[in-house]
Amino acid sequence: MQRVRKAVLPVAGLGTRFLPATKAMPKEMLTVVDRPVIQHAVQEALASGIEQLIFVTGRGKTAIEDHFDHAFELEATLAARGKDEALQTVEATNFPPGTIAYVRQQEPLGLGHAVWCARHVIGDEPFAVLLPDDIILGDQPCLAQLLDVYENLATDNGANLIGVEGVEPEMTRKFGVLDIDRWLDDETSFIAKGIVEKPRPEEAPSNMAVFGRYILDPTVLKHLDKQERGTGGEIQLTDAIDASIREGVPTLGHLCEGRRFDCGSKEGFVLANVAYALQDDLMGPSLRRAIQELVRED
Ligand code: G1P
Repeated sequence: MQRVRKAVLPVAGLGTRFLPATKAMPKEMLTVVDRPVIQHAVQEALASGIEQLIFVTGRGKTAIEDHFDHAFELEATLAARGKDEALQTVEATNFPPGTIAYVRQQEPLGLGHAVWCARHVIGDEPFAVLLPDDIILGDQPCLAQLLDVYENLATDNGANLIGVEGVEPEMTRKFGVLDIDRWLDDETSFIAKGIVEKPRPEEAPSNMAVFGRYILDPTVLKHLDKQERGTGGEIQLTDAIDASIREGVPTLGHLCEGRRFDCGSKEGFVLANVAYALQDDLMGPSLRRAIQELVRED
């Protein structure tokens, strides 16, 4: 398979669920423990071997661009004061020039439209999509797991590979859901024969839900060119993937290892903070005791 070098990160959403916190700050800059939500996805992509990140941004998102840039005064002050550890932490958010490209989505017309806005930067090669609201805690980066599977696929026709997790039937209306053709031998991947955006439980083809990590064949962009509206009146990435399945591009779902947190919801965001903080060597043990105490008192 052709190597996957580029990843698209749509970050143009308004973050209305987190108002007033997101009134003057992009929702992607809310922190999970000590780093913004967006940094978790960026680190996952880079740790998985992605070389170029394409952010699809919108109005009011400049804090994201500033976050992944030199902060000259801050860095000079930390260096002058000998705060080496803090300096390293700040420097770790700078990447070689050209690593990140920013493309603007002028109107909120849907996830498919956001990805389509990046089409000229993606070009004609397979690419990853990471929805940064979803962060995954696990031993191996989630995207790296998908890339392992992807690189071992043998097809002449490209492929789409989508991270999935099993959800309760009543939850299908919140996700893209895959229609399973057949499971592969290792029982962690299956071939899909279709995908539907946010089906009602009684119409869902399975309970295998898309959670925000994709590797896509560039032909998906051709389907997005049509700008067809789908569920919720939006241009859906799901519909373009479905069209690509119907055109014969092999499409697989893969169950990734790790615990997923939906930082696009308040509950998921709070839970992510707790889970990541519990993993921290310094604060984990005392935090565990404090949480147990809180729960007992509740
Ligand atoms: C988007 C996708 C959906 C996917 C979900 C994962 O929906 O359209 O297919 O399952 O992300 O988080 P959204 O949550 O943006 O409505």
